Amino acid sequence: MSTGESHGDAAGTENPAVRRLAAWDAGRLEGLAAEYETPLYVMDLDRVRENCRRLQAAFSAADVRYAAKAHAGRAVLETVREEGLGIECASAGEVERAFAAGARGTEVQYTAVNPPDRDLDTVIERWHDESELTITAGARDTVDRLRERGFDGRLCVRVNPGVGAGHHEKVTTGGHAKFGVPYSQAESVVTDARDDFDVVGIHAHAGSGISGDDLSAHREVVRRMGELARAVSDHVDLEFVDVGGGFGVPYREDEPPLDLDAVARATREALGEVDAQLAIEPGRYVVADAGVLLATVNTVKESEEYETVVGIDAGMTTLLRPAMYDAYHAIRNLSVETDDAEAETDDAEAETGDGEAETENGDEDADSDAIPVTVAGPICETSDVLCEHRPLARPSRGDVLAVGNAGAYGYEMASTYNSRPRPAEVVLDPEPRLARRRETLAALTELEE
Ligand SMILES: Cc1ncc(COP(=O)(O)O)c(C=O)c1O
Repeated sequence: MSTGESHGDAAGTENPAVRRLAAWDAGRLEGLAAEYETPLYVMDLDRVRENCRRLQAAFSAADVRYAAKAHAGRAVLETVREEGLGIECASAGEVERAFAAGARGTEVQYTAVNPPDRDLDTVIERWHDESELTITAGARDTVDRLRERGFDGRLCVRVNPGVGAGHHEKVTTGGHAKFGVPYSQAESVVTDARDDFDVVGIHAHAGSGISGDDLSAHREVVRRMGELARAVSDHVDLEFVDVGGGFGVPYREDEPPLDLDAVARATREALGEVDAQLAIEPGRYVVADAGVLLATVNTVKESEEYETVVGIDAGMTTLLRPAMYDAYHAIRNLSVETDDAEAETDDAEAETGDGEAETENGDEDADSDAIPVTVAGPICETSDVLCEHRPLARPSRGDVLAVGNAGAYGYEMASTYNSRPRPAEVVLDPEPRLARRRETLAALTELEE
């Protein structure tokens, strides 16, 4: 599969297919760390906009819905709405947050996964006022529970396509028994539902983090969905065929970005002729490279037996992906880069005396001084390690590190394990503003009786 590092948007302005960690301004990020303290998530809303536009340009005839589970912060939800994306929600909580961000029922799709009664009751309560919202059911049993509650609105049936794909077995959804009506039963569930509901769609999601390598599985899922759409077309008027999200992003610095146009083309070809609109619901692709996590070095432990351990104030409770999925995230030592850049400016000024000398990006110097390190968090767990054997520029206590591609499944998966309050979050719009306050120690006991 070919890749495209750069992709102009509809307005003809530059809209690169990936924003690498190296492209973030070290001085600006350090300034944010100083002002808002760490650990701190930083989300660049302009980059969220660019990602939305690239998706819409590639999937021009499709309905693009943002999977809120990747980042359900209000500023992000408002931004994707402004860009014209719908919102796909995995729980009543996400549905409530979509409405809090100003969404209308037409924009909201609730995908019920083994839904607790409380979720169904809450969403159906909403539906009484917002009758255009869509509920996606992934089991015949869920369809029955919706009927029992008097729901007769827009229903979509989630199908288990029997094939999955993804960056890790834990996010390979498609063939997992947990998700969706088994393919062999899908046609009968759809046709049985038509008398009691407005059956508007069918849905499947292959998995998360699909790269060029496992695109054939994604294509097979789409092909099966096209087949099902044609099979049920005599019984129901489908409005859409939703083939899920899962578009991967390059977490490693040398990994090429997905060629979105090629993926879109392959998706349309695999779907074939259907009398319904194609829908997609990407999450990660919209927000991953729009976010970085900032952390401060609090401990540097050197020994003869082990490589240097760099202790930081962010850990698996701040960013769970490395502990949960062995995920790779690029890391930069911003403080060394800004120190080097300042030193270079001073040297150049001394040489030229005009004070206008250009500073180079500190990357090269930083790399030449890099030592292999383990970066670990403050949680009392062996798995609380962001990376091992990673070259990092001369870490010292007080340095600020930036962790890349932290915008998706970062803050959303944060927890208070070890009684650690969750971090703060700043959005750049383009000026910085606090989007989420740092959780307080007092909040940890607030709910206790
Ligand atoms: C049903 C469904 N849709 C969309 C997504 C979004 O996936 P991604 O963030 O990889 O695009 C997920 C992720 O788990 C999902 O389960």
